[in-house]
Amino acid sequence: MIYEGMKEHLEASDLVVFAYPVYTFLAPSQLHRTIAFLKEKKTKLQGKYMTQITTSKHFYDVTAHRYIEDNAMDMGMKVIRGLSADMADLLTREGQKDAREYWEYVLNCIREDCYENQVQNKNDKKRKTTAYHAMGIHKEHSQTKRVVIVTDYQKGQDNLKNMIVDFRSKLPYETTVVNLRKMNIRGGCLGCFHCAKDGKCIYTDHFDSFLRNRIQTNDAIVYAFAIEDHSMGSLFKMYDDRQFCNGHRTVTMGIPMAYLISGNYEEEQNLRMVVEARAEVGGNYLSGVATDEGSQTEIDHVITALTKKLSYAMEHHYQQPRNFYGVGGMKIFRDLIYVMRGLMKEDHRFYKEHGMYDFPQKQIGTRIGISAVGMLLSIPAAQSKMQGKMTEGMLLPYEKIFAELEKEKEQ
Ligand SMILES: Cc1cc2nc3c(=O)[nH]c(=O)nc-3n(C[C@H](O)[C@H](O)[C@H](O)COP(=O)(O)O)c2cc1C
Repeated sequence: MIYEGMKEHLEASDLVVFAYPVYTFLAPSQLHRTIAFLKEKKTKLQGKYMTQITTSKHFYDVTAHRYIEDNAMDMGMKVIRGLSADMADLLTREGQKDAREYWEYVLNCIREDCYENQVQNKNDKKRKTTAYHAMGIHKEHSQTKRVVIVTDYQKGQDNLKNMIVDFRSKLPYETTVVNLRKMNIRGGCLGCFHCAKDGKCIYTDHFDSFLRNRIQTNDAIVYAFAIEDHSMGSLFKMYDDRQFCNGHRTVTMGIPMAYLISGNYEEEQNLRMVVEARAEVGGNYLSGVATDEGSQTEIDHVITALTKKLSYAMEHHYQQPRNFYGVGGMKIFRDLIYVMRGLMKEDHRFYKEHGMYDFPQKQIGTRIGISAVGMLLSIPAAQSKMQGKMTEGMLLPYEKIFAELEKEKEQ
């Protein structure tokens, strides 16, 4: 019923504006479901203009926008760049001015018939997915580590099932499978912030305790899904959004992750960024992603390699320093929690305990050193003397380390 009303309005419109809050790197699960619905019902949106307005803290607003754009393009829509506002922007004069100017820009795009996907790349060659048959090799499974596989597998997804079967048989540890379809998740996150107080969700489906007791207690977490509308699908997204009850605490930090994905993952640049960024921000080593792209033998090799990489990561507690996705993401969280510490008390405690408030002003030694160099450089005589010495200066601490290593070797 709701859909029929929506379909009528959408099909009668010239411009569709997707307006939503950014949730967990993408759109709220409810919007993922809506998009799936629009596609299932073959809603006639071809040739219509679309744009989007989001509010967020700019934490992966970029992947959210790209997700909506990719789906709009699937439906043949003309994509006009969206507006990504900070949560508080529209309360400020500057933010309101930006919004007005953006709207003028949208109207002009329609008047002039210009849009982002004016020229589409027709030459994209897709690496094919193939039917994958489980090899059924069985190994001894040790119980020294606990591994959970979270999936939304449903009947008909044979490749996904066979990949899970093989992954389980090749991994030298016992695994538990949690199928989200068998769980009673009452609904998507409502953004009510009830959990900000004490970590308890307003829904009474015990999802928060399920997360804490059955997921976060494992030595590794493996996610297994089939790509749906350029994402992990609305049910998986619901699982992701509901993790908001953990606040911004990276509670699974140090636990390695792996993915089994059915579909053309190689083509899904945006989803690949989300998968990597999620692991980066969470402080989880991403052991890898096995997909069903390639031949039976290739897929089998990739799954085998993934079980080996994951085992190594678990055994050695292997981690890597965060890259831009992780460092940048954590700086946004850090600033957010610091400002909102009066409300987000659990988050604040966690950030303090884990030394996550790495504000620059805390690096007192470095700052004093750099100021001294700056002052020296403002004196013309010192400036000419120091010319070309900057690199030498930067190498100095390393030379000290090399000298120490040499000394150790001699002893
Ligand atoms: C479940 C959940 C996930 C969120 N994920 C993100 C995120 O990935 N990036 C971000 O910048 N903000 C995120 N936020 C913050 C929301 O974007 C922000 O609360 C929203 O823009 C406020 O809009 P509203 O007032 O319309 O709810 C998230 C909030 C919730 C409740």
